[in-house]
Formats: sequence, structure tokens, C-alpha cells
Amino acid sequence: MLDVKTTRETLERHSQSHVLQFFDELAPARQQTLLEQIATIDFDKVDGWVEHYVRTKPTVQSAGDIQPPQIVPARPADDQTAAAHAAALAEGEELLAAGKVAAFTVAGGQGTRLGYEGPKGCLEATPVAKKPLFRVLAEQILAAGRRAGKPLPWYVMTSPANDVATRAFFRQKKFFGLAPEDVFFLVQGTMPAFDFDGKILLTEKGQLALSPDGHGGCLPALRRSGALDDMARRGIELISYFQVDNPLVRCIDPLFLGLHAARHAEMSAKALPKRDPMERLGNFCVVDGKVTVIEYSDMPEDLARACTEDGRLKFSAGSIAIHILSRSFVERLTAGDACELPLHRAEKKVPYVDQAGVTVTPDKPNAVKLEQFVFDALPLAGETVILETLRSEEFSPIKNATGEDSLATSLHDQVRRAAEWLEEAGVAVPRDADGQIAAAIEISPLLADCADALVGKIPPDLDLSAGQAVYLSPAGVES
Ligand code: UTP
Repeated sequence: MLDVKTTRETLERHSQSHVLQFFDELAPARQQTLLEQIATIDFDKVDGWVEHYVRTKPTVQSAGDIQPPQIVPARPADDQTAAAHAAALAEGEELLAAGKVAAFTVAGGQGTRLGYEGPKGCLEATPVAKKPLFRVLAEQILAAGRRAGKPLPWYVMTSPANDVATRAFFRQKKFFGLAPEDVFFLVQGTMPAFDFDGKILLTEKGQLALSPDGHGGCLPALRRSGALDDMARRGIELISYFQVDNPLVRCIDPLFLGLHAARHAEMSAKALPKRDPMERLGNFCVVDGKVTVIEYSDMPEDLARACTEDGRLKFSAGSIAIHILSRSFVERLTAGDACELPLHRAEKKVPYVDQAGVTVTPDKPNAVKLEQFVFDALPLAGETVILETLRSEEFSPIKNATGEDSLATSLHDQVRRAAEWLEEAGVAVPRDADGQIAAAIEISPLLADCADALVGKIPPDLDLSAGQAVYLSPAGVES
């Protein structure tokens, strides 16, 4: 049993003794769990967090020199760029064939906006086959491994709240056809939620209010879990990082990998041209010479709206959380467990037990949560490639229950993209008077993960004129 006396002393030193207020009422097992939870918290850091992030709102540093970054275009406009892309594509394919690439999904988020019960990766998210998000990603990884002649390992980050359910789902679905030994789960860390006075909240008498420490928590988690060592044993050099909730993501992109490798970059990113200056995407900037993502909420409006001489948006590149990380970079950042990305503060509604032992469900934000964001590692990278991608090809996340960035908008975008790939290959896709696609169409990632990969794989008798729902997979066409 962890020692309650020492714990009490630590808590007193840091003005957090209240978390043991109900300790004597708890059964021994609950007491032990609470002590274990408390032991996960680094109280030497808590005082600083409370002072700098909880009691006061950190002010956004107005950085000295902010410039737009250099962006590699999605489609080369001249012969020189086309040649560089072709060489990078070949290099990316070689890296894959040599088994030097791993897939990495961060899936530890709480998905509060979506409000789905269970890990978000289990959500059925495709228009015809109703595949869960995890399967959409798994099939791409499987297909990339088959194309390269070398299976890719897949690292999946979970949180303490969804780890058991995530692993059970993978087992139940037989790892979606992947070899179980090539799937590595790692659990991210947690952070306590504080009230506005800096006191750690209890969600129950014997339970701290803990939540995942943000997707930036993946960097220390990669080291702590042994994932980095596992990668080293397998000869992995590059980590393809993506989120669980964007079914359009191209998980393994040889061009992106090759551009990163050719530049000897440490961390790279894909970017989208923003729809409008105030779109809620992080902004790629170069701040004092370092590639940096400035969150939409931190970007001064005059900068967000600034234009170039020819009238285009100066800071047009938005971040969509698709990265390549060199393993050596993650090793360097996390050496000696010293990975300290900045914290981001968010005010949230967190149910809590008050001093009288009564559970309160707040109707307005009552708590501060602190998270790390993975893009804050970008300025620490020696070299970075920012590759532009097309929104229509690669970004339609499922964040909200309704409205924009919801399952409905993502399903629509998946059908639209499948139709565009088929049209590019010469298939007639029926559209209504408004140009909307008249049928649900889904293309299995096992058949193709981009328009080019579809060439030569479409059954010659494919006929969509009846407007029926169609699923194209290596097994043929189901409708
Ligand atoms: P979001 O920032 O969209 O957060 O995560 P979320 O938790 O999924 O959803 P909300 O904000 O509660 O509604 C983007 C990606 O980062 C992962 C998520 O699983 C998602 O793939 N993530 C987020 C983590 O892995 N850990 C975290 O602590 C936060």
C-alpha cells in the first residue's frame, strides 16, 4: 500500500490536501486507487501550472518576426518541382520497401464534441460498408504494406479511459487483417483538472478529475511505453502521424515521406489553404526563423487577414494534424524524459464533488484543463517540410455531432471523393441537377488509397446509372 502519511505531506506542501478529504470514508481498494492516482502527478510542476495557467490566463507572446512559411505545392507547377516530386515519391517508396516507416495514430482523445459512447475509432464512419474508423485506417496500412512488400507496424495511442475498450475492439475485429504483433498500443498520460482557484477537482470522493494530456502527450508516451525501442528494433526511421477521426486521411503517403527524407527534416506537416482568414485551423508561420503553428484563437486578427501584394492571404496555410516525425527527433526530444511542450489552457465543464461531498454538474465552465499539442514540437525540429494537400482529397474530420465537421459532412465528402476518383478514371457518375452525386459510393482502401492507385482496377462493367449504393473492393463490386 502506498504510504498515506507521505502523500498527505506532499499534498500539504502544494496546497492540495483537500483531495484526501473523504479518504477515511473509502474502502481500502478505493483508498489504494486514489493514492495511486495522486502518485502519477508531478507536484513540483503543479505549483507552476497553477500559477501560470490556472489562476492567470497565459498571455499570447507577441512574437518578434512572423512570416509565412515556404510551402511545397500539392501539384507541381513547373518541370523542376515535378522532377523533385518524382524523385521524392521514389525515395518514399524505397523507404517503405525497406521497412523503415511506421504508422502512428493518436486515438486517446475524449471526443466530447461528438458525444459518442466508446473510443471514437469504433464509430461506423463510411457510407456503404459502414466501417469503423479504425478499419478505414487499418486497411490503408495493410494495403501500403502489401504494395511495399513489407508490412508496416502500427502504433496506436489510447488513454487510460479508452485503452481497454480499444484493445478489445481490435481483438474482436481480428486486428482488421493486420498481424497482431505489428500493432502496438501505448497509453498516454493524464493531467488533473483544476478549479479556477487552482485546486485539483475530484469527480468522486475517491477519484481525481484526470483527463488525457493532449495529443502532444504522444511524444513522452512513445518513449515511456517502449514504442521507440520497438521501432528501433524494427529499423523504423520515419513515423507517419495522423489522427483517428479523419477518414479521408492518406495514412501512408510515399511523396510526403520522400520529401521529408530528401530534406533531412525532423518533423514535417501537411497544410491546407484556409477557406477564409478566420477558419478555425492552426496557422503555419515562421516565428523568429522557426516553423510554428499559431492556433486560430491566438492569431492576431490583423495577421490572419493580412494579404500579399497580389491580394492573396499571407498566412493561408492551415494545419490538419498530419505529420512525419523522424524517430531520431522523438528520441532527441524525449531523452532523459525531458520532453516539455508548452501547455494549452481550456476552460471546461467538469462534474465534481464539492466540500460537502455532493456531486455537482456545472452548467458553465468551472475548470481548467491543460493539454500539450503535438504541433508545438515543430519549432524544435531542425528542418521541416510543409506539403500542401487538397482539402477535397484529404480532410473531412468527424468532430461534432451535427453541423460542420460531423459524420454527415464526412460521409458526403467520402462519396464525393470516391466519385471524383472514378470520374478521373473515366467512369460516368450520375449527378442530380445540382451536381450532387446521386448514389452512395465507397472505395475500399484495400483497392486504392488515391486516384492513381485506382487505374486498372475498375471492373469494365461498372455501371452506376441506377443510382444504387456501390462498394468497390478487391473482391469486386457489391451493390
Ligand atoms: P481533438 O483535439 O479533436 O480532441 O483530437 P478529441 O478529444 O478527439 O475531441 P473533443 O475535443 O473532446 O471533442 C484530435 C486527435 O487527437 C487525439 C484524438 O483522439 C484525435 O485523434 N487526442 C486528443 C489524443 O490522442 N489525446 C488527447 O489527449 C487529445
